[in-house]
Amino acid sequence: MNYFAIKHIHVTAAVLSIVFFVVRAYWSVSGSAMLQKRVVRIAPHIIDTILLVAGVTLAAMIGAHQPWILAKIVALILYIGVGTIAIKRGKTPKSRAIAAVISVAIFLYIVGVAIHHHPLSWIA
Ligand code: HEM
Repeated sequence: MNYFAIKHIHVTAAVLSIVFFVVRAYWSVSGSAMLQKRVVRIAPHIIDTILLVAGVTLAAMIGAHQPWILAKIVALILYIGVGTIAIKRGKTPKSRAIAAVISVAIFLYIVGVAIHHHPLSWIA
């Protein structure tokens, strides 16, 4: 598979990831039973795995020794960690909502890093 096909998969997975995240965060904050549905619990793992594998593949293809790649990996780990607070670990709807907003901000930071190829993201 060529670079652009993998990049397309990566970006598509990124869009699906944030769309599903926002929907699940909404269900989490509003206390919806939708979150317990099997497909809702499993789909994000599949999407995020595709996102990560495609990203790592792209990084390997262009040579991974670049600060912005490291910044993306670190920020992705944060996005996942804060994301779990938003979806399940946060004890109150308010703390889950705050974690959700922080997760979306981290995601936007990552998109800026991807586009500018720089850890300073949108302000680079
Ligand atoms: C939430 C996580 C991530 C998001 C939202 C994301 C988003 C994006 C976007 C939007 C692009 C396209 C940039 C452009 O068209 O100029 C991109 C490209 C890329 N991403 Fe990611 N990414 C994520 C995680 C990762 C990870 C973990 C890695 C590496 C381990 C990675 C490596 C790359 C590489 C190498 C490119 C290609 C850059 C280029 O050809 O210009 N990404 N990413």
